[in-house]
Amino acid sequence: MPRPDLRIEALAAHHKRAGFSCGIDSLDRYLRVQAGQDVRRKTNGVFVLVEPDKPGVVLGYYTLCATALAQGPIPAEARKHLPRYPLVSATLLGRLAVSQARQGEGFGALLLADAVRRAFASADTVGSSMLVVDAIDERAVAFYERFGFVRLPDSLRLVLPMRTIRKLIAP
Ligand SMILES: CC(C)(COP(=O)(O)OP(=O)(O)OC[C@H]1O[C@@H](n2cnc3c(N)ncnc32)[C@H](O)[C@@H]1OP(=O)(O)O)[C@@H](O)C(=O)NCCC(=O)NCCS
Repeated sequence: MPRPDLRIEALAAHHKRAGFSCGIDSLDRYLRVQAGQDVRRKTNGVFVLVEPDKPGVVLGYYTLCATALAQGPIPAEARKHLPRYPLVSATLLGRLAVSQARQGEGFGALLLADAVRRAFASADTVGSSMLVVDAIDERAVAFYERFGFVRLPDSLRLVLPMRTIRKLIAP
């Protein structure tokens, strides 16, 4: 990671989850109540952003899990070069949030870049054709579109094909 003053790591017992607040209640509640259990059950990978000198303070987090999408709604530009299986293997970035007090410092972009890299690397082990995000609202859609995600029609879902990621990572 290009910021030695920051670290992104798997959620663990020493991370203080109760104090996290990003301004969206469902995302705060998830970290507080559900995230630990999801990690234990391998339902989601949960990764948190911390400063090494305050290792317990969660500045932001994201979650990843395996999923599958129907071919139908995927826009043609994102579907190019995919085999015509009825379901497309994918990795779901289900949640991404930054502590309200620290928004606007580039942490959201850092977390997203880490999620993209991690999803791309893990696709060598468990195949995945694209990264999928379910944006929480229209503002979040705009955030993801800035980074090249393509929106599915009539939904808050966006995709970024692994083929595109490969070009970004190793042009
Ligand atoms: C959306 C969120 C993750 C962005 O995190 P952040 O740390 O504030 O964003 P960053 O500082 O990394 O911003 C990166 C870039 O995206 C832009 N950006 C941030 N929020 C944006 C939004 N809602 N729409 C469009 N662009 C946005 C910034 O202006 C910045 O652009 P720049 O690089 O040209 O300066 C954060 O605001 C948040 O946690 N919101 C509440 C929860 C949420 O909406 N989660 C996302 C969907 S699940």
